[in-house]
Amino acid sequence: MGKPYRPKDHYFQKAKQEGLRARSAFKVDELIKRFPMVKKGHVVLDLGAAPGGFLQILADAVGPKGRVIGVDIVAIRPFSQPFVQTAVLDVLADDFDAKLTELHDGPFDAVISDMAPKTSGIKATDEARSLRLAGKALELAAARGRPGSSFVAKVFMGRDFEDFRNQIRALFEEVKVVRPEATRGASMEVYLVGLRRRAPETPEAN
Ligand SMILES: C[S@@+](CC[C@H](N)C(=O)[O-])C[C@H]1O[C@@H](n2cnc3c(N)ncnc32)[C@H](O)[C@@H]1O
Repeated sequence: MGKPYRPKDHYFQKAKQEGLRARSAFKVDELIKRFPMVKKGHVVLDLGAAPGGFLQILADAVGPKGRVIGVDIVAIRPFSQPFVQTAVLDVLADDFDAKLTELHDGPFDAVISDMAPKTSGIKATDEARSLRLAGKALELAAARGRPGSSFVAKVFMGRDFEDFRNQIRALFEEVKVVRPEATRGASMEVYLVGLRRRAPETPEAN
């Protein structure tokens, strides 16, 4: 049986003590400690970044020579570090890609998504919504991730999980499925991690 759901659990208290904006900070902390995805000087995209727990950890990891861009449909309290930039954007909006390019037009070293849909309580609907958000994150990793870059997306385990994992495998040399320690007991969520983005194939010259 999973860990029982306790809203003010150990990680909640620990986050409060450590001045972290969300207990989820411990999840990305575990992920980047297990896999060398985020280094000093890296440029990282954090999707679904509010209230900013991931951003706090990612900011420490990239340092002032790096850059972290966090976007969410809800506003994120600004960060004091100038290399952490946030914007209110819906990743599923038609103009999202253009707006993202206005924020940063170069490649990313890591595309990280902790996006989660508003849950309806209907399992199949929630899984499909979660996968749609994760699918958009993968599309961005494909379009904007540099060769060798990393990818992380939270998904609710469901019917199309294997298919999504295979889509990541096509783009990254290695794929891991991780359920971080700080994940709540009853949660169906896991993180899919793509390591070392393959270089895009160049079209053959005629
Ligand atoms: C679990 S929370 C993220 C917590 C965050 N990683 C942190 O550490 O503070 C999931 C977030 O996904 C965002 N989200 C859901 N749909 C989105 C969309 N279409 N575009 C951008 N963000 C979205 C939600 O607003 C919510 O803030």
